Amino acid sequence: MTSSSEQLRTIARQALETEFLFGSTFIPNRSRTISAPAEKSMDKSKSREQLLESLESRFCGVFPLSESLGDANRPVFGEGPCDAELMFVGEAPGADEDREGRPFVGAAGKKLDDIITAMGFAREQVYIANILKARPPGNRAPLPDEISAHSPYLVEQLQIIRPRVIVALGRPAAHFLLDTTEPISRLRGIWGQWNDGDLTIDVMPTFHPAYLLRQYTPEIRAHVWNDMKQVMAKLQ
Ligand code: URA
Repeated sequence: MTSSSEQLRTIARQALETEFLFGSTFIPNRSRTISAPAEKSMDKSKSREQLLESLESRFCGVFPLSESLGDANRPVFGEGPCDAELMFVGEAPGADEDREGRPFVGAAGKKLDDIITAMGFAREQVYIANILKARPPGNRAPLPDEISAHSPYLVEQLQIIRPRVIVALGRPAAHFLLDTTEPISRLRGIWGQWNDGDLTIDVMPTFHPAYLLRQYTPEIRAHVWNDMKQVMAKLQ
């Protein structure tokens, strides 16, 4: 086979695969169940639920935590099962999230929903959170002080939930979780790890769904889909 026909086959395969994710002929991947490991017993998951609830009310008590986030209307703590195997971490709530008090419910959230469905999961099966739990004014990027103030709450969420895999959505999440300043274009698609004491969790950095919406090219779509395929393989 010539290299140009190989290229054509690769392009055709990627086009078909990303149709699953984003196209009009969207077909969800076969529905996936995430099996909880044995140690995630009912009792433990109950206590995790209580731990998460008390963490959330602690955060609500100090909301918005940073003076610079004083315009935020509602805490956006995060949502999902307290024993989720898969966790998505974004940057900060936007206007829609600030209105509803839920993460990823705006346009980027709809794209994230498409991605989750294409992976064969239901949104209710995964935990979704952000580094910042209050909306920065005008949706500006989080400031270093805000990340320092809010990230301990994310760290506690991770310690309680202990997902098997974290998907870091975009640069701020990838930089925080992987403790690096490498460009997201170089980080994405390569497994990293988040470590905290005895806890090590695999991290897959990928492009933020908002970036995907802005750069809706076959190349960027294929990158995100390839990253998610690695996540699906890891969770199998
Ligand atoms: N972008 C984020 O990073 N998080 C949200 O919750 C919404 C948009």
